[in-house]
Amino acid sequence: MKILLLGKCGQVGWELQRSLAPLGEVVALGRHGIGDSAELCGDFTHPEGVVDAVRTVRPDVIVNAVAHTAVDKAESEPELAHQLNAAVPGMLAEEAARLKALLVHYSTDYVFDGSGDTPWQEGDATGPLSVYGRTKLEGEQRIRQAGDTHLILRTSWVYAARGGNFAKTMLRLAQERDSLSVIDDQWGAPTGADLLADVTAHAIRHLRLHPKDGGLYHCVAGGETTWNAYARFVIEQARQIRPELAIKASEVRAVPTSAFPTPARRPHNSRLDTRKLQATFGLHLPHWQQGVARMLHEIL
Ligand SMILES: NC(=O)c1ccc[n+]([C@@H]2O[C@H](COP(=O)([O-])OP(=O)(O)OC[C@H]3O[C@@H](n4cnc5c(N)ncnc54)[C@H](OP(=O)(O)O)[C@@H]3O)[C@@H](O)[C@H]2O)c1
Repeated sequence: MKILLLGKCGQVGWELQRSLAPLGEVVALGRHGIGDSAELCGDFTHPEGVVDAVRTVRPDVIVNAVAHTAVDKAESEPELAHQLNAAVPGMLAEEAARLKALLVHYSTDYVFDGSGDTPWQEGDATGPLSVYGRTKLEGEQRIRQAGDTHLILRTSWVYAARGGNFAKTMLRLAQERDSLSVIDDQWGAPTGADLLADVTAHAIRHLRLHPKDGGLYHCVAGGETTWNAYARFVIEQARQIRPELAIKASEVRAVPTSAFPTPARRPHNSRLDTRKLQATFGLHLPHWQQGVARMLHEIL
């Protein structure tokens, strides 16, 4: 099996380099192509170059981990967000259809309006609140319209040991400040890039045998929490793992979203129902605390 991975240096892309390796030959492209040689273009601001790369590699599977993920910045650069999150994924879907290749793509809880308090199912009505959410939703729609076998995994609150993330920011702030204020009215599940990459690899193997199971799935870690409880968990774990760490913060105050105005609106309810994914692929999604604790053991 030949796999073309796009976005190899992002949180999920980096973990995909590991998880896809046992499946076959992986051609992994970053924004600047392969390593120092730019023979193959992986830059989504040059769509024709990306299409050429697909036609040159002729993969059996395309895994797209590229996205414009800077949610607030997307509000002021909607054209770029549209190109990365909607236009180029649509072109990839057309190329995949031509090659009879499987296209794997990631989407987000931000396609929903965040109302209510029950976990969203795949068929629920969408209602994005931001440029990021709208462009990601259009990306999904373009892929589904191309009509060929695809796998879209909607996920939320992604973290990884590599790169910056919420947990690392909380650890730093907890060492600098006596108390922290973290919002407690957005609900979701922190999901490890490693878990997403592992689920992707299992799903690709399954879809090679059962292509009719392709489609849209929710994929997040088990359980649910708020950013506030997530921050408290990170600090408690850090105290246990590295007791010598000078954590000053004795309090993590609960504040509403309105305490931190941002350019992009965010959904309050980001809970995603994952039963369809677990039943179709025979997978179990571990509790979010398990993955976050493991990541903290790695970075501390
Ligand atoms: N992060 C989250 O909390 C979250 C939540 C829900 C869904 N998702 C979805 O999950 C997927 C993976 O996200 P992630 O967390 O791994 O994101 P990420 O760490 O921000 O990675 C995004 C990737 O896109 C690449 N990229 C940006 N502009 C590019 C361009 N012009 N051409 C080519 N590549 C470009 C980045 O390359 P550089 O490294 O060179 O910048 C990076 O490799 C995305 O589809 C995202 O929408 C993420």
